[in-house]
Formats: sequence, structure tokens, C-alpha cells
Amino acid sequence: MATIIAWQPEFTALVVAAALFSVGCAYLADGPQTGATAQPPLKVLAAKRGLNIGVCVSPEALRNDPGYGKLLAEQFDIVTPENAMKFAHIQPERGTFTWDDADQIVDFAVQHGMKIRSHTALWHHAVPEWIADGAFARRQWEQIAKDQIAAIAQRYGDRLTYWDVVNEAIADDGQLRETIWLKTLGPDYLEKAYRWAHAAAPNVKLVYNDYGAEMKNAKSDAIYAMARDFLDRGVPLHAIGFQMHFIKSMPDPRKIAENLRRFAELGLELHVTELDIAIQKMSGTRAEQLEQQADLYRRVMEVCLSVKAVTVFQMWGLDDGHSWVPWFTKQPDAALLFDRDYQPKPAYHAVTRTLAEFQPDADADASQTCPVIADSVK
Ligand code: XIL
Repeated sequence: MATIIAWQPEFTALVVAAALFSVGCAYLADGPQTGATAQPPLKVLAAKRGLNIGVCVSPEALRNDPGYGKLLAEQFDIVTPENAMKFAHIQPERGTFTWDDADQIVDFAVQHGMKIRSHTALWHHAVPEWIADGAFARRQWEQIAKDQIAAIAQRYGDRLTYWDVVNEAIADDGQLRETIWLKTLGPDYLEKAYRWAHAAAPNVKLVYNDYGAEMKNAKSDAIYAMARDFLDRGVPLHAIGFQMHFIKSMPDPRKIAENLRRFAELGLELHVTELDIAIQKMSGTRAEQLEQQADLYRRVMEVCLSVKAVTVFQMWGLDDGHSWVPWFTKQPDAALLFDRDYQPKPAYHAVTRTLAEFQPDADADASQTCPVIADSVK
């Protein structure tokens, strides 16, 4: 004899629970193969915080290693070409433009719905020989700089969200750095570059990007003064990029927060553009170093979540196999969130947890939530 069971209200709850369970299982089945995670990817957690999260990208890796692109698209929603948009790469010979590498990155980003930060039109490194050794009249130098900016804008303008127009133009003492651009164009070259970029790509947010300006010091004071002056005079500038290469040392996060807040008060967006935290100077076993590193990543993320003007959080590389730190320091290192097998490190979990759980104080004062940095990074 068939038993008919009347539908009870509790059954609805059971059905809903079962449906949620199967959605969860489907996510786990399709989800990251990084071993990362049953949790949502970084980009999903970051989006809930009003942040884009990303890394700098190598076109060779995108071309040759499917695992690289997979992890990149799965976890991140903004990219910067590591080298592919620098002067020497785009115009190695005068009048000869090479776009393949930059195209590779832009096409990948567009296909995967990722934002793009262009980097960088005028910098003192990565200039081709014809620029380094060039002997031109002032008017020609202006045309060369303007043409480079216009060429990038013309090719990618509608697909870029941000653009580091000028990079590292201010020295540690707060004076303009002695660069080829200062020498050939004169001290108002930054202002000119931002005006040219804005005229050529009016929808792109323009960024000034530098290192060593994370805390208050002569360099960040000079950047602050320049930014305020630009805003007062209507020179187009929309964001400041803080590179945050913490290789030999790292400022107390309270001091980073204090510095970021004064820039935020100018109404600018703030970007962490090139974060990496080296472990080579840290004491302890490898496992202990990675735990210390994770803690420092947590603190940097806490600062960023405490200062609302921070809208971009980028590491300088996807994984330890694609990091410039060993090349730069001539020492092995492991400064990023994923190891060279694309497996998540303690730093990845720390960033994930912080994005999911951290509650800034109502006053958004990171100084109350970031203890003094350990002596581990000197
Ligand atoms: C570095 C790249 O990572 C290296 O591959 C390249 O050899 C040199 O430049 N600050 C910047 C970046 O703004 O463009 C630099 O990138 C790292 C320091």
C-alpha cells in the first residue's frame, strides 16, 4: 500500500538546503584547481570590498603555459603588462612599433572581462638605444614623447581603465629624478605628459606610479605636492600608484595608512601597483618565513581595506616562478601569493581570510588595527 506523505513546511527548508548543497558541490567541482580552495576566488572577495585585485603579466607565459592563464583568469580581475608596454618594447627602433606582446595581454584581459592598467609611457628604464643615445632638438623630443603616448592611446585607449603615464620621476630626496625625460623635455614634462595622455585617451584614469613613497618621507611629500598642484590647476591626474616592493624592508603599516589617508583626502584613487614581500631576509625555517610573509600580506591588505580610496590591489607577478625579485636581488626568493607550481601559499590564505573577514574600525583608522611590524624584514 502506497503511503502518501503530506507536504510539511519543513520539507521546503530541506529542499532549499539540498539545492544549496548541490550548488556548493558544483562550485567545488568546477572551482579552482589550484588546490586553493573551497572558498570564492580572490576577485570575488575583493569585489565585495570595492577592490580590483590583480598582478603584472608576462606575454610569454600567457602564450606558452595554459596553467598560467587559467589561474590568472580564475583569481584576478585586473592586469598590468610587466614589460610589454614600456618604451623599448613598443618602439624599439624609431618609427617601428611592435605590439604583439601587448596585444596578447590586452586580448586576454578583454576575453576574460579583466581591467587593464597600462604601464608605462615615460620611465628612465626600458628606453631603446635610439632614445638613450638620441641627439634631437627640444621640439623633436617633445614630439617623440607625445607620439609614444598617442600611439598607446590610439591602439588601446578604449580598452584601458588605468594608465601609469609617468613612472618613478621623483628621487628619494624629493627632487625630480635626473632622467632622460627631465634632461630633454625640462621640468614640466610630467604635466605635459598627463595632458597629452588625457587628450589622446580621455576615458582612461591617469596614474602617477612610484616606489618608496609608501610612508611619509621626502619623496611622498613631493608626490603629494605635485598631485595637489595638478589637481588645483586642472592637470588630469586621477590616481597615485604605490609600488610596495617590500624586498629589503617594509614600513610599519600604520605609517602606510597615515600616508595613504592624506592622498585620499585629495580625492584621488589609490592603487597598490607592484606588491611583493621578499622572504630572503627573514629568519627561521622556510615554513616560518612563509608564515611571517603571510602576516605581512595580511597587514597590507588590512591597511587597504581601512582606506576606502584604495581601489586596486596588485602583486608584481602571478607566482614565484614569474617574479622579478630573484632577478633583482640575485638571490632566490618566493615573494608572491602562489608558488611556482601555482599552489596557494600561506600568504594567499591570509589575503583571502582578510578580504572575507576583516572589519576596519568605524573610524577606518588602520593604526589601531596594525601592530608594529616585526623585525623580520630589514
Ligand atoms: C621590472 C620587471 O619586472 C622586470 O622584468 C624588468 O626586467 C625590469 O622592470 N618598478 C616598475 C616595474 O615600475 O616596471 C619594474 O618591472 C619593477 C620596478
